[in-house]
Amino acid sequence: MSVANARHTVLNPVLPYTGGIPGGLEPGEIVIIQGTVLPDADRFQIDLSSGCSTKPRSDIALHFNPRFASSPCVVCNSLKGESWGSEETLHQLPYKRGAPFETIILVHEDVFKVAVNGTHLLEYKHRVPLERVNTFSISGKVVVHAVGYIPNSAIYSESGDMSVPYKGSILKGLRPGQHITIKGQVSMYPHSFTVNLRNSRTENIALQLNPRMKSGMFIRNSYLSEAWGREEREVPFFPFSPGEYFEVLILCQPHQFKLAVNGCHLFEFRHRVQDLGSIDQLEVMGDVELSDIKLW
Ligand code: GAL
Repeated sequence: MSVANARHTVLNPVLPYTGGIPGGLEPGEIVIIQGTVLPDADRFQIDLSSGCSTKPRSDIALHFNPRFASSPCVVCNSLKGESWGSEETLHQLPYKRGAPFETIILVHEDVFKVAVNGTHLLEYKHRVPLERVNTFSISGKVVVHAVGYIPNSAIYSESGDMSVPYKGSILKGLRPGQHITIKGQVSMYPHSFTVNLRNSRTENIALQLNPRMKSGMFIRNSYLSEAWGREEREVPFFPFSPGEYFEVLILCQPHQFKLAVNGCHLFEFRHRVQDLGSIDQLEVMGDVELSDIKLW
């Protein structure tokens, strides 16, 4: 994942670090921590707390504590009224002394989900109401390169880069008024490429964009209930060329998508999936290289 979509980023903080989380945390948001474990690490901890008081100690909603000593583990707990609750210990440690890491805390209504280096690690049920969480701390034997807060409207890709095939999550699904920009470059000897706006839990594709270079056709379609729909093909001109940079803009309106390439309007596509919130994944595959994808 990149921190390019972050609404707030803290770079190279001095440890121990404590800082406010602007606007608090809402379901769908992500806190991303990029750092390196020190070679002599015994432990470090990431705390999501309610305030930053030390006397009395603020409540800690999530204490996430990798331990490297004799039996490596990750301990999670909450501190309430200055007392620790019961520990949730995972006897597995995805961190290595001396190695860089990327930790993602995905905020859900009922749980925090933590992933490390692109792989889900654990879930922790809220013991302190999410509305009270407003402070982030990290301390212990790590160096932190960046902490980013990624809003729930962003597209995020677990693979962490822009490689194709690309799969990005639209955490809260689409809404009218949002737009997606896809920037990239067509391959030198392209056949075609495909952009799918889809539902991650089914096979359904609300909108497939499929420019085919040889024939100069730009096919749009949907795949719903195991069937392709009616193709839409009309375009005033074909906007892509081998090796050329492009910027695709997809505007989601109440009744249709509107698409422009390199600033020129190309077509509309009436919504065939009415529940726009169910469109929660963006895929790109085929003969392109991607440089940037954003949801606004
Ligand atoms: C304690 C430790 C604390 C915290 C807590 C979590 O033993 O001293 O720093 O990690 O466990 O339950």
